[in-house]
Amino acid sequence: MGENTDQSQKNITGFRPPEDFARNAIVNDPDIYGRAEDDPESFWEENANGIEWYRKWDNVLEWEPPLSKWFIGGKLNACYNCLDVNLKQRADKTAIIWEGESGDIRKYTYKELLEEVSSFANVLKGTGVKKGDIVTIYLPMIPEVVIAMLACARIGAPHSVVFAAFSGESLATRIGNANSKVLITCDGYSRRGKVVEQKNKVDEGIRSCGLLDKVIVMKHYGNDVSMTEGRDVWWHEVMKDSESSCEPEVMDSEDMLFLMYTSGTTGKPKGIVHTTGGYMVATHTTTKFVFDLKEDDIYWCTADCGWITGHSYLVYGPLSNGTTLVMYEGAPDYPDKDRYWDIIERHKVTILYTAPTAIRTFMKWGPSWPQMHDISTLRLIGSVGEPINPGAWLWYHENIGLGKCPVVDTWWQTETGMIMISPLPGITTTKPGSATMPMPGIKAAVLDEKGNEVPPGQDGYLAILKPWPSMVRTVFGNEERFIETYWSKWDNKTYFAGDGAKRDEDGYFWIIGRVDDVIKVSGHRIGSAEFESILVSHPSVAEAGVVGKEDELRGEVIYSYVTLKSGVEESDELKSELTSYAAKNIGPFARPKQIIFSDDLPKTRSGKIMRRVLKAIANNKDPGDVTTLQDPAVVENLKEKTRILD
Ligand code: PRX
Repeated sequence: MGENTDQSQKNITGFRPPEDFARNAIVNDPDIYGRAEDDPESFWEENANGIEWYRKWDNVLEWEPPLSKWFIGGKLNACYNCLDVNLKQRADKTAIIWEGESGDIRKYTYKELLEEVSSFANVLKGTGVKKGDIVTIYLPMIPEVVIAMLACARIGAPHSVVFAAFSGESLATRIGNANSKVLITCDGYSRRGKVVEQKNKVDEGIRSCGLLDKVIVMKHYGNDVSMTEGRDVWWHEVMKDSESSCEPEVMDSEDMLFLMYTSGTTGKPKGIVHTTGGYMVATHTTTKFVFDLKEDDIYWCTADCGWITGHSYLVYGPLSNGTTLVMYEGAPDYPDKDRYWDIIERHKVTILYTAPTAIRTFMKWGPSWPQMHDISTLRLIGSVGEPINPGAWLWYHENIGLGKCPVVDTWWQTETGMIMISPLPGITTTKPGSATMPMPGIKAAVLDEKGNEVPPGQDGYLAILKPWPSMVRTVFGNEERFIETYWSKWDNKTYFAGDGAKRDEDGYFWIIGRVDDVIKVSGHRIGSAEFESILVSHPSVAEAGVVGKEDELRGEVIYSYVTLKSGVEESDELKSELTSYAAKNIGPFARPKQIIFSDDLPKTRSGKIMRRVLKAIANNKDPGDVTTLQDPAVVENLKEKTRILD
């Protein structure tokens, strides 16, 4: 991460878009920036015409800081815009090419997908789901996750997709917060050849809370599961006689399309609310512009539908553009380390969108794996989820993009809904490690503590100065937290992204990483406080402070500083027990890298654990002024314990 800084100061020569790429690009007139800046509302209004509306809006934007509404009075349906609109010209075009980890392949044309989605929408209606009811989806990367999401959108039921690798307990928290009565899941799925017993996780997680009325279970892996009479039904059975046409619900532009839980700075995940009109306009437009989507592209976004990237750039953006998309269920190294390149060769993928952590892993495995395959169909490659270091960027460009593909490093967040800072591949000269410039229609800046713009080269906070169509509308059930988290740092109308950044002399943005208590492990967003509350729920733990430590491969890894209850002995067994406990209670992707026992933690005089100090210790950095700590001696002690691990 620090590398970004060095490169920006070296003023590295950029990569111009290849001439033929630029000539044929959907966006190749740099004037787009000026036009959008002069009149962002007209810019978005113009792009809103890319979406089909039952009724057009009366006003583009109503901005009562920090609350915004977009395309007011507009009526539309997101599912209709992903499927029905494509029937005229693309009924028999492949919408989804799905590949299972075992090598199974399923394909759906737009017409077939519409039929499946409509049938499932009728199933949901049959179980009593009505417009406005939140449906939770807990599925791995199988076509049914897309079908379920779109079926919800069709009948106006907001979906809340929970990442399949989360534990049953994490699922239960999210079901409880959303007050969701219907869950869609599966028996199990394959991860590196081993079964993940998804339905068992559900049963364990929701055992005590008894929240759900109905659980619809897709039979995918074939493992044994227990079905609770009256509550659990099989997907294939309820689908058998379901009618395959379903009128889409007419939704207001500001009706909720989905909830997406994400980690923040407090113990509880927050439900980010996205609405229909602005979100559809934003994702439709940015998918087209950033990925330069053309009719015959084969587009592969490797993100999981359990995260925002899977929502915006696997489902809503690509399908509303009538794209053929590839969806892969499994691990990149199963059965071997060339799986991605094999998929690209066989399906003739033209656009790849993946994460820096994956790129760094491929780099570690070496270029011989991609070289085993013909990946020359690729014409554009993208990155998202965490800062990409220039070394990884260059490797990606050279070995995957074969030196000819523009690289789009896209900065955005669950809360922004759409890509906010990114090259436009037909226009922007890219610099490895920089997400380059805000998208047309987006006004971003790097500000200091007081809200003043910092000079080039200086660190500050990334801020968005004007509203945008797919911005988070609220935190579900907690407007106060919404305002406090995103809008209260400065003046109530400037969005605080939670990231540190700097701009260089050319105005390029370099994202440094989170400045709050969010940890990015392999691009997965994990809250320190959420993690700490899991650790302290263990009977041996008195207190815990959890921070991210920079890591070459994963961006960050989790370091947990733990004080044990009196009378509990420190031991390696307890360390591994706590590691498994955290992994079991959150999900395997959240396994702490180190657990460090300590009799005390750095605390303020009022007893608050100072994560800032712990983070500095974990990263071998200067913790700054520690004289205000209850016991400054703790710092030296922890430094020593941490040093032994390095
Ligand atoms: O820290 C930034 C990082 O990911 C955070 C948002 O995480 P999440 O809501 O899970 O969404 C990830 C996918 C959009 C940001 O606050 N981040 C995302 N993209 C980049 C990035 N950091 C640097 N460069 C990026 N391209």
